[in-house]
Amino acid sequence: MTPVILSGGSGTRLWPLSRGQYPKQFLPLVTVHTMVQETMLRLSGLVGLKNPIAVCNEDHRFMMAEQLWEIGVKPAVIILEPVGKNTAPAVAMAALSAASQDEVLLVLPADHVITNNSAFHSAIAQAEVLAKQGNLVTFGIVPTHPETGYGYIRKDSAQLGNAYKVGAFVEKPDLVTAKKYLESGDYLWNSGMFAFTAGNFLKELEKFNPEMLSACTQALSSAKTDLDFTRLDKAIFSTCPADSIDYAVMEKTDKAVVIPLDAGWNDVGSWSALWDVTEKDALGNAISGDVLTVDTQNSYIYSEHKLVTVIGVENLVVVETKDAVMIASKDRVQEVKQVVDQLKRLG
Ligand code: GDD
Ligand code: MG
Repeated sequence: MTPVILSGGSGTRLWPLSRGQYPKQFLPLVTVHTMVQETMLRLSGLVGLKNPIAVCNEDHRFMMAEQLWEIGVKPAVIILEPVGKNTAPAVAMAALSAASQDEVLLVLPADHVITNNSAFHSAIAQAEVLAKQGNLVTFGIVPTHPETGYGYIRKDSAQLGNAYKVGAFVEKPDLVTAKKYLESGDYLWNSGMFAFTAGNFLKELEKFNPEMLSACTQALSSAKTDLDFTRLDKAIFSTCPADSIDYAVMEKTDKAVVIPLDAGWNDVGSWSALWDVTEKDALGNAISGDVLTVDTQNSYIYSEHKLVTVIGVENLVVVETKDAVMIASKDRVQEVKQVVDQLKRLG
C-alpha cells in the first residue's frame, strides 16, 4: 500500500497563522510535529507500507522535502503542482505515478488530527482488502454534531462486513439539512481519505472525466524530474479541469463503499476546530505563547511576539502574529475567510 499525501490547500480559515506561503499543513499546530509529519507518523506500525507519494504546490517543495526528511521518511516522489486544480487531478497524478496499477493507494489529506490510531489502523487494514476487491473505499466519520464544514455520505443498506455501499455524497449541507442528517443516523462525515487501487481509480476517472485524465497524463509525461521532485509544466497543467475527487469520481461511481470510522478525527479546518483538539486549562482556555488571562473562559489565545492579555471574555479567539492580529467570536470563525478575501482584493 502506498500513502498519497495531499498537501495543496492554502488553509485560509486559519489566517493569520496559516498563509499562502506557509499553510497550516506545514505548521506544528497540534503537536511538536507539523501536520504533514503527523500524517506520516500516524501510519507507523502498519505492515507493507511503501514510500509515500506527496502532491503539493511547487512553492512548498522544500518544506515538504525537509519535513519528510526530518522524520526519516523517503518519498517515492513529490509531485509539484504549478497551480492548484483541486484534489481529483492531484490523486490522478499519484495514481499515474504508482509502481503498478494493482497498487493500493491510501489517500490522506495532510491536515487532519486522529487521536485513536489503533481504530484508524484497523479501518485501513479493512480498506486495503476492500480496495483489492475492486471497491473505491472512503472513510466515513461517525458524526458528533451537525457540522456544516464537512461533506456527508449516506450509507446504503447493503453491508460488506463493517462497510456499506455509498448511497450518496452531499457536499457541505446547510445547518437545517445537517441536523436532519445527524438525526437520521444514516449519514457519516466525508473524511476526504480514500483507498483504491491506482488502476480502479483511473478507470472510473476515465469513465466520468476523460478530459481530466488526459490532461493529467499529458502533464505527467511532459514533467521534469530532479531529485525527488516531479515538476509539472505550468502551461500544460493549467489546461486540466479543476475538481474535487468527491465530485469528479466518488459521487458518480457505483463502486464506492464507506467504512465507518470513530477515531477522534478532526480536520482542523477552523480556529474553533483547533481549540477542540488543543489541550486546555481548567477554564477551557487553549493558550500558546506569552499570554495572561483574567476571568477568561473557553477561548483560544495565541501569541507569537507580544504579551497578549485578555480580561473578562469567553468564547473568543485571539491570534497575534508578527504582522497581524485577529480577534473573533469563537462561533463565527468560519468568517475569517471573508477577511482573507478582502485582503486579497486589496492586494
Ligand atoms: N495537492 C493538492 N492540490 N492538494 C489539494 C488541493 C490541490 O489543488 N486542493 C486541496 N488539497 C488538499 C488540502 O491540502 C487538504 O489536505 C485536502 O486536499 C482537502 O482539501 P480542503 O480544501 O481542505 O477541502 P475541505 O476541507 O474544504 O473539504 C474536503 O474535506 C472535508 C474533510 O476535511 C471535502 O472532501 C469535504 O467533503 C470533507 O468533509
Ligand atoms: Mg480541509
